[in-house]
Amino acid sequence: MLRPSPFTRLARQLRYNAALLKMRLRRSNHPTERAEWRIEEMQRVVHDFEAATGRKAAESCIVEVGFGARPERALAMSCFFGRVYAIDLALPVLGLGDIPRVFWRSGARRGVKSSVRHLFFDRTWWPAFHARLRALAPSYRPDKTKFIIGSAGDWDSWNTIPEVHAVFSHDVLEHIPVAELRSLLEIMRQRLSPDGVAMLSPCVFTGIIGGHDPNWYQYRVPTNESETAWAHLYDPEFVPVTYLNRLSRRAFRSMFEDAGFVTERDEAIWGDDFGRQHLTPANRAKLSGWDDYELFSNIVDFRLRPAAS
Ligand SMILES: C[S@@+](CC[C@H](N)C(=O)[O-])C[C@H]1O[C@@H](n2cnc3c(N)ncnc32)[C@H](O)[C@@H]1O
Repeated sequence: MLRPSPFTRLARQLRYNAALLKMRLRRSNHPTERAEWRIEEMQRVVHDFEAATGRKAAESCIVEVGFGARPERALAMSCFFGRVYAIDLALPVLGLGDIPRVFWRSGARRGVKSSVRHLFFDRTWWPAFHARLRALAPSYRPDKTKFIIGSAGDWDSWNTIPEVHAVFSHDVLEHIPVAELRSLLEIMRQRLSPDGVAMLSPCVFTGIIGGHDPNWYQYRVPTNESETAWAHLYDPEFVPVTYLNRLSRRAFRSMFEDAGFVTERDEAIWGDDFGRQHLTPANRAKLSGWDDYELFSNIVDFRLRPAAS
């Protein structure tokens, strides 16, 4: 296959960024609504954590892997968990004071991008988000969240973290190369307490949105034509716009189990038939190598416990 020219790659990247922006604008970006949504989400996480482990969140340590450009979850975790650590490759920009560190650690291009984003979008957004979280949860302590910059698959990133009772990660594992993911799972297995739990929800490659193709983002699934559905699984020309390890749902599960975890939950978060209308007889024929467990995977909520040793 011919390597795309720099111009094609740039055009593809610009289209991807425009689609990301469009998707973000479709979601509510209002800081008070985001804070309310995060609190509800974290209440579900805490409920799940306490039911699974019998531990109190307030006396436990949670690690978020891959907190993203806006670490809303990692901050909201501080309302409930005793200790919160959050690991990502990139520095978060929560205030103007963080910008010089972005230039220093990640270079001029990333620094300029973060500065523009902060000055034009996030500068007034964060104070409103913090205020709403504080009003909803007086126990909110954003300073409690310790950010660690580095790969979660690197032992050094975990050096300062005490015993871990929960690991949480959403929409991240599919972006980590397999060898690094193996290392992350080994670290998690060693650092998670015997009664601990890992709540991991990758966006699995074999699902209808698994190619991370802006034309097949979740919100487009109900209205799209079926012709190109799941094309990322059979089209040799398909090139993802972001790094993807292309692991299937079964491959994730067997990696988890090989690393010493028991799978307690394995559920597609939008149900077992998200996009079913696109599995036409013609598409079924093109996708004959994949069964429904894979094709309806999408974002999968895996809950793992350390196997008894
Ligand atoms: C698609 S974003 C998801 C962010 C956030 N979890 C969310 O749901 O919005 C993936 C994030 O994973 C981070 N990431 C990728 N590989 C990583 C690694 N090896 N260690 C830590 N974070 C990583 C990226 O920097 C990025 O912030």
